[in-house]
Amino acid sequence: MTAALLSPSLLSADFSRLGQELTALEKAGLSWVHWDVMDGLFVPNITMGPDIIGACRKVSKLFFDVHLMIDRPSRYLDKFAAAGADLICVHAEAETHLERTVSEIARLGAKPAVALNPHTPLDMVEFLLPQLYMVLIMSVNPGFGGQKFIPFCLDKTRRLKKMIQAQGAATLIEIDGGVSLDNTAALIAAGADILVSGSAFFAFPPYHQRHNDFMAAMADNG
Ligand code: DX5
Ligand code: ZN
Repeated sequence: MTAALLSPSLLSADFSRLGQELTALEKAGLSWVHWDVMDGLFVPNITMGPDIIGACRKVSKLFFDVHLMIDRPSRYLDKFAAAGADLICVHAEAETHLERTVSEIARLGAKPAVALNPHTPLDMVEFLLPQLYMVLIMSVNPGFGGQKFIPFCLDKTRRLKKMIQAQGAATLIEIDGGVSLDNTAALIAAGADILVSGSAFFAFPPYHQRHNDFMAAMADNG
């Protein structure tokens, strides 16, 4: 991946019109969309599952960046892969045998990614980087949109970038939670490749203009 990109989180979209929202994102020039799957156990909220994603797969060509905030996600990898997830991101804190889970995601044909909660050290992914398409750094405590960015996650992004470079790996970095136009440039400068935005994107239509605003902020990282 060369240029950084935005992956809007549907958690802040209109759930009663998901198909239309996806079409609107495509028209606005987005290429990725972020699905926040929550089970009410790993995080204190419940959202959607593979059936909703599968139904939307039929009406969208966007890259489905699926973030599983669920306990023991290995139980559902085949269902999310069959639903059409292009990337499946599991939480390091939610799996006992993480390497086996990452290998299984790749075997199923989706791009494997691991998410780290704010407090979780980068060591959790150190030995997996060569197998990972992406590492997601949670910059809020997962479960809800509209929260404030946790400041130490900026330095965490820099450190992850250094770890990836030291290994000569090609792993991408995604930042998820509290991303706004104000912190976009700093996050890109710190090494982020993909920014997830829910409330700071969907609350400011028209989407094509908001997308342009984020892309301009990304380009402006000095
Ligand atoms: C939180 C989710 C994030 C969230 C981002 O658990 O993983 O993707 O929806 O929403 P904002 O951008 O509003 O923080
Ligand atoms: Zn997310």
